[in-house]
Amino acid sequence: MILRRRCGASDCLAWFFISGIALVFFLICSILYGTRTENPSLPQVVQEVLPAGRCLCQQSTTFECSTCLDCATRPAIVANTTHAQETWEFEYRRDGSNYGLDEDQCTAAFPGLFEDIERAKNFRKGRGLVMQKNLTDFELTKGMVRAMIYDGQLYILETFLVDNINRQKAIASLASLHRAVSAARDRPSIPNVEFVLSVEDLPAQPKKPLWMLARRAQDEDLWLMPDFGWWSWDMPSLGAFDEVAAEAIQRERLEPWDAKKEKLVWRGKLNFAPKLRRALVDAAKGKPWSDVGQVKWEDTEFKEPGAQFLGPVDQCNYMFIAHAEGRSYSGALKYRQLCRSVIVSHKLQWIQHYHYLLLASGAKQNYVEVERDFKDLSSTMDDLIAHPEKAKRIADNNVKTFRERYLTGAAEACYWRALVKAWKEVSFDPVLYEKVEDGQKKKRNQKRGVRYETFILYDYNTQIEWPKPAQ
Ligand SMILES: *[C@@H]1O[C@H](CO)[C@@H](O)[C@H](O)[C@H]1NC(C)=O
Ligand SMILES: *[C@@H]1O[C@H](CO)[C@@H](O)[C@H](O)[C@H]1NC(C)=O
Repeated sequence: MILRRRCGASDCLAWFFISGIALVFFLICSILYGTRTENPSLPQVVQEVLPAGRCLCQQSTTFECSTCLDCATRPAIVANTTHAQETWEFEYRRDGSNYGLDEDQCTAAFPGLFEDIERAKNFRKGRGLVMQKNLTDFELTKGMVRAMIYDGQLYILETFLVDNINRQKAIASLASLHRAVSAARDRPSIPNVEFVLSVEDLPAQPKKPLWMLARRAQDEDLWLMPDFGWWSWDMPSLGAFDEVAAEAIQRERLEPWDAKKEKLVWRGKLNFAPKLRRALVDAAKGKPWSDVGQVKWEDTEFKEPGAQFLGPVDQCNYMFIAHAEGRSYSGALKYRQLCRSVIVSHKLQWIQHYHYLLLASGAKQNYVEVERDFKDLSSTMDDLIAHPEKAKRIADNNVKTFRERYLTGAAEACYWRALVKAWKEVSFDPVLYEKVEDGQKKKRNQKRGVRYETFILYDYNTQIEWPKPAQ
């Protein structure tokens, strides 16, 4: 009787239904737990069901750019200076923070830096140019700014920023662009352009021609801009990027290569990319060469052993620095590259503007690449520790390529100006004045936007959503 009741057709269906719901509920709970917890070890079953961060795929991007680096280190780079015809060569100490190199100098000093600009331009040329309505036919989403350069001046047309971090990133990006434009040797040659930039890590609208901080290989419509950190970043031990670089150089005087710890260091938050970052923590667990630990930003004291907060320059005290992407790209890479250390990174999925210069093999090798699951991390570390001269060479190349060339303020400013120029080739001519109704069926000319110089004086509420929509 009981048995029959249990196995009646509708009861069975109900039973399946309930167990189905229970299973889904269990999966959801496991995933929520796995992606949110900071617990260093997870049950196997939770690890199995963890999604791979928020990325859509496991695909990674490795560039073959040895030719660019070859020409970058060729001894005599000749460029025409504006006045006399002389030989000019980029010199880190003299030119590194010169935001006003001319175009010939930029080309000569930073071969390979403009690869993604060329790619985006050629992609656009094949698909049709950007028209004004392409930038106005959608609502700005979180982190976006619509802006314009006109007669060499930067104008803010519209913003949609949701919090103070958003606001800081946007102001820092605009400030960097403004610096690059103001420093131009030939400012009138800066073309008039209108564009929309976004300071969000993840592209909310990857099929639109937006200026972004990072993209995946398939986000071909996006244009890359330098990260706001080149201006400055309001976080413990950070600051203006060249300030951090100067700190790293200072630290190197006290602690040269031989004084560094022969260990792999990493500090970060696991729940920004749980699967990827946990794989790193697991692969390093218990190894003699490991100083890999998670940081909990909420703990101001960082008391947990192995989890002490390390500033970017403190990481320079280690011979090896691990790098792992976060929700999308990780802005920490550029700080790690300021150290005379070996960067050990998994195959990257997110592309930043200067990633074409990363080289994982050959005489100019400037970082070490491992698989995205870190399965080969242990053998890679054993090999590096067994070949200290190779490790030293990679660390030296890291400094020569990044700290002393492609991550300089000079390179950043060259990149911004090249971006503006290339964008102009595939986009419309913006206007400074537009016709608006004056209420009496007549139209008058009204200037669009507000100058950057004025915008930065506005208060928080005005800056984050400008201009406020009419009530
Ligand atoms: C440098 O200038 C000379 C003439 O002033 C010109 O012939 C030459 O093509 C220029 N070189 C480059 C690399 O622009
Ligand atoms: C611009 O808009 C046109 C017409 O709506 C569309 O065909 C084209 O694909 C858009 N271009 C971009 C870059 O979005």
